[in-house]
Amino acid sequence: MTTGLSRLSGKVALVTGAARGIGRAIATRLAEEGAKVAIADIQEDAATKTAAELKEAGAVAFAVKLDVTSLDSAIKAVATVERQLGPIDILVNNAGWDQLEPFVESSPETWERVIAINFRGVLNCCKAVIPGMQARGQGKIVSISSDAGRVGSLGEAVYSGCKAGIIGFSKTLARELARNKINVNVVCPGPTETALLHGVMEKQPKILDAMLRSIPMRRLGQPQDLAGAVAFFASADADYVTGQVLSVSGGLTMVG
Ligand SMILES: NC(=O)c1ccc[n+]([C@@H]2O[C@H](COP(=O)([O-])OP(=O)(O)OC[C@H]3O[C@@H](n4cnc5c(N)ncnc54)[C@H](O)[C@@H]3O)[C@@H](O)[C@H]2O)c1
Repeated sequence: MTTGLSRLSGKVALVTGAARGIGRAIATRLAEEGAKVAIADIQEDAATKTAAELKEAGAVAFAVKLDVTSLDSAIKAVATVERQLGPIDILVNNAGWDQLEPFVESSPETWERVIAINFRGVLNCCKAVIPGMQARGQGKIVSISSDAGRVGSLGEAVYSGCKAGIIGFSKTLARELARNKINVNVVCPGPTETALLHGVMEKQPKILDAMLRSIPMRRLGQPQDLAGAVAFFASADADYVTGQVLSVSGGLTMVG
């Protein structure tokens, strides 16, 4: 635990899809800043392993099984986490999934899966967490969208639609919940080196080369690159920041 910051001391954070990749890096950073973290993931064994590793490093971490596509699962996971760690102060909607293919070749079954995980998953977790935050008059919600949701991305039409949907949804939620002192913000990664990226790009190595050429910083993101932006939005430093969208993508997307 190394940042030297303790902005989240005593806070409880639930991070979805935290067993690996960007979610894991976010959970690690929130723990480093003092939060008790729930590693919520559909892969229960992987979540348990990640939580154990965080605990070994001195964090308070708890693994919980969560399938974000199910409201029932979200409600149960939130109840379990609140029994174990206390009321949830911070929700990070990070779980996501995609399959790269031209829209005309994609099937309604794939659309359904993409929408269920990437968009409805955010709605389910917000629905499960917000009533408690409203009752307590405080909360921070940070959702991981994508630069694909801001400017589009070849072969990711439905995914991009979901990620754009997260932005519109979050801005509206930010307006509705401001009176409850609940901040709602969005972080957009660009191409970031994780299992998801490698899976998506497996069959399309040329796209990865093209992406690299279009990133002003000429490198892929690392999961840790995202974690500081999320920790900021989750902290009291962002108490007067809501409904905002921040790209963390080496300059790939510069939206005015
Ligand atoms: N890696 C990138 O290049 C990139 C770029 C832009 C945005 N993003 C977004 O960042 C987020 C994290 O992506 P990543 O690259 O770390 O992916 P990843 O595949 O490495 O990790 C995603 C995690 O989400 C979990 N998950 C999947 N479906 C779930 C479900 N139904 N319920 C609960 N957990 C579930 C997986 O088990 C996994 O642990 C996603 O929202 C993704 O869309 C990633």
